Amino acid sequence: MPAVSFQSVSKTFSTPRGPFQALNDVSFDIEEGEFFGLLGPNGAGKTTLISILAGLARASSGRVLVQGADVQADYAEARRRLGIVPQELVFDPFFSVRESLKIQSGYFGVKNNDAWIDELLESLGLADKAKSNMRQLSGGMKRRVLVAQALVHRPPIIVLDEPTAGVDVELRQTLWQFIARLNKQGHTVLLTTHYLDEAEALCGRLAMLKQGQVVALERTSELLSRASGNVLRFKVDGELPAALQAQARVTGRIVQLAVHDAADIERSLALVRESGLVVEDIEVRKADLEDVFISVMAGSRQAGQEVAA
Ligand SMILES: Nc1ncnc2c1ncn2[C@@H]1O[C@H](COP(=O)(O)OP(=O)(O)OP(=O)(O)O)[C@@H](O)[C@H]1O
Ligand SMILES: [Mg+2]
Repeated sequence: MPAVSFQSVSKTFSTPRGPFQALNDVSFDIEEGEFFGLLGPNGAGKTTLISILAGLARASSGRVLVQGADVQADYAEARRRLGIVPQELVFDPFFSVRESLKIQSGYFGVKNNDAWIDELLESLGLADKAKSNMRQLSGGMKRRVLVAQALVHRPPIIVLDEPTAGVDVELRQTLWQFIARLNKQGHTVLLTTHYLDEAEALCGRLAMLKQGQVVALERTSELLSRASGNVLRFKVDGELPAALQAQARVTGRIVQLAVHDAADIERSLALVRESGLVVEDIEVRKADLEDVFISVMAGSRQAGQEVAA
């Protein structure tokens, strides 16, 4: 039985400007023990999908099962199996960190949870903030508390909606070590992030959402191997010729193009030079998940292979 099963999930919001479809027939399963990444640009529908999984929003059609429990029909059962770290920083300002974790434990009917709460505080670098009022914490610390809150009842499935947004490098590493350890112990992890290097390093399998639809669903290694392999990177002093612009990833003066082989590199550079531009700082690097992501989002499902063709 899958840990999570999304079955033809669609969601339409009614807005002042009429209906808006945020999710369109999303189907995929996450198996027990997987470290699964859900990627997509802003507004792709990631948080909407997680809200439906968490029972906070209702799907317009389709259904979601958590270890077989329907999130609508069997809400309490499904919710107990999930630990959800929300994207938004929501917290109760009147309690201390430890109190809020005790309250959250009580909410799930977990008693005598102090040892685990101590371990969570320790693992997330919050031990010295246990007595601090939630109001007194910085943004990154509040996010750590949200992670701790999600885990107080030792849920088998951990859902993290951009847990590292606004979090410093050190905590990011601590957090990932901790989550990776829980995953090794058998917890299933569902993660959304805009840090594609994190997704590449951590997730065994990925789904990419674009405008509410799944446009890629594969093992991370498969996705990476489908990328063309290499990326040509250089600086130019002006606008790229149209033939290259559509395929290039441009950041200021820096241009990056997927390339297969030496002939490809020569062809691309020749095109740039023919247009009268000066090319500087040429280098070739291996394609990474960001390259794949960009080409998938550009509409090429072949992820990189067609970019330079
Ligand atoms: N309550 C709502 N009413 C109307 N539209 C909504 C509502 N919630 C979300 N949307 C719209 O649905 C789309 C998907 O939003 P969602 O928050 O799921 O995106 P996301 O993939 O999580 O993006 P981000 O990476 O920015 O967090 C967006 O266009 C958003 O404006
Ligand atoms: Mg979101």
